[in-house]
Amino acid sequence: MLSFPSTLNSIDDLSNETILYLLDKALQIQHNPELFQLKNRPFVSTLFLENSTRTKNSFAISALKLNAHYIDINPETSSLKKGENFEETLLTLKAQGFELLIIRSSLNDQLSPFSINPPIKLINGGDGTREHPTQALLDLFTLSKTVGGLEHLKNKTISIHGDIFHSRVAKSLIKLLPQFGINIILTGPDEFLNNAENDFSKNITIEKDRSKAILQSDFIYLLRIQEERINKSDKSFSIRLKNYHENFGINLALLKSLNKKIPVFHPGPANIGIEIDDELIKSSLYLGHTQVQLSIPMRMAILHTMLKS
Ligand code: CP
Repeated sequence: MLSFPSTLNSIDDLSNETILYLLDKALQIQHNPELFQLKNRPFVSTLFLENSTRTKNSFAISALKLNAHYIDINPETSSLKKGENFEETLLTLKAQGFELLIIRSSLNDQLSPFSINPPIKLINGGDGTREHPTQALLDLFTLSKTVGGLEHLKNKTISIHGDIFHSRVAKSLIKLLPQFGINIILTGPDEFLNNAENDFSKNITIEKDRSKAILQSDFIYLLRIQEERINKSDKSFSIRLKNYHENFGINLALLKSLNKKIPVFHPGPANIGIEIDDELIKSSLYLGHTQVQLSIPMRMAILHTMLKS
């Protein structure tokens, strides 16, 4: 029997075997979703303390497709606004009969106190600059489908471009992808690569030259600048961002000039004209919307497994 954590806070919470199980289950769900109905109709909830279009809707649709009951908690009208703490909120949800909560938070350690024996099952839907484990899992699923199977990803290279320092998605990808033999090149402005070398080593290199990074890559993964996490008083930084697209962004002309028409991933939301241009995002190389599509079977696989464990 596969063991699945009651709190999915980090990629570290999942064994290699569990990740393989989820990838396989997501594939099965894609072909036969009717076989994965939850007959007991558990109550699933989302609490998003930061904005989201993709993650929240993807979990909502996934829960509904599994035949679960789904309720979104609006943080603005919840009792968190009246000073109720997070533990009391979870105990209240448990008393109401909820089995699982997906939470997004700007705090890096929101779920850490609940890693063992949480009142209800918990999924990290993105926390601060720390991790976004379900995004990384759906990205691995998309990558594997792009090459026709996980085994074909071994020794492939992906360059991750941009604001790695503030990106929770990058932090989860950096932990996940090397487990499957994928090499990672980190590239972007110095400010966004700070500490990257210290924090991560296995299968990961830094290449400050954007074109050299692309030339060594089989896939490109673009990141948005996380403006909301950057100290706005840092004037030198805002000046550098003014020329971001010219110096660090990716466009179709650049890929053509390098003769590298390779798939371009983006977790979204994309800022067109900054990390990517309009022509590239509308081209067949751009797989951001495929990632969104495939997020549903992957998140259905995660919810189904957690709710059955
Ligand atoms: N990828 C992602 O987390 O997007 P949202 O912020 O729209 O959920």
